[in-house]
Amino acid sequence: MQKVAIVGAGVIGLSWARLFAEKGWSVEISDPRPDLQKIIDESFGGLPVRAAATLEAALDGADFVQEAGPERLDLKHELYATFAARTRPDVVLASSTSSLVPSAISEGNPAADRILVGHPFNPPQLIPLVEVVPGPATEQWAVDRATEVYAEIGKQPITLQKEIPAFVGNRLQKVFLDECVYLVQQGVVSAGDLDELVKASLGLRWATVGPFESNHLGGGPGGMRHLVEHVEAAYGTGPENYERLAARRDARTRAVSHALADEG
Ligand SMILES: NC(=O)c1ccc[n+]([C@@H]2O[C@H](COP(=O)([O-])OP(=O)(O)OC[C@H]3O[C@@H](n4cnc5c(N)ncnc54)[C@H](O)[C@@H]3O)[C@@H](O)[C@H]2O)c1
Repeated sequence: MQKVAIVGAGVIGLSWARLFAEKGWSVEISDPRPDLQKIIDESFGGLPVRAAATLEAALDGADFVQEAGPERLDLKHELYATFAARTRPDVVLASSTSSLVPSAISEGNPAADRILVGHPFNPPQLIPLVEVVPGPATEQWAVDRATEVYAEIGKQPITLQKEIPAFVGNRLQKVFLDECVYLVQQGVVSAGDLDELVKASLGLRWATVGPFESNHLGGGPGGMRHLVEHVEAAYGTGPENYERLAARRDARTRAVSHALADEG
């Protein structure tokens, strides 16, 4: 049985613990919170999840480390110094951080080659995405191993080609939210109506096709050749291709709509 050390048992750490444990990993959690044992007893009945007496005990024999401690760089530096000293050189050290780039976390750390970001979306148990973000010092094997582990526990890892603060998902969300706030502040639309508008259009659409695929379909059977050659390479053109992609989009949109209607 493989072992993961989860460091930090807040909202994100506890969710990681469940994901790993449900997929058959042995989980040991380190967190100074005094109610750690109680939380584990209450939340993980029957699953192989244990409270570690010390950080070193959690790291002992770990095959993967998922850090989910507070979003403070000084504390992460301290934690990663211990991770580097107390884990095997083939063990990936992954941070759940929402904003800190891996090169900042691994600065001065002798294990920089195996430090990366594995950023989940909250709640990690329900939202599939994990952004795998390597820093300039992260080696490819560590990226491959993290991707393999996340896929094994049922996540959908997407690897960024280079680091950027706040990564991709939250950056997109921020731009979108800024415009939402602007439109409400300008009195163009009420906050409630804007939420309804998004749910009835973009939210539903983006659950089934991404922005590029959606624009490509918007170009009709001819695709977007005239606009974006890269999108064409990813999704293809021509009547058959168009029919297939449009049918898939429509089936998925119906499935999401029906599921939401069933929820009431
Ligand atoms: N909450 C979110 O929506 C979200 C989403 C994605 C990523 N993240 C990231 O995940 C990480 C954790 O976020 P969270 O929301 O779970 O925070 P949280 O405050 O709920 O949990 C942090 C936990 O770390 C513990 N902790 C403090 N010092 C520690 C130490 N020395 N060793 C081990 N644990 C220690 C705290 O006791 C607490 O239980 C952060 O880096 C955050 O940016 C958060």
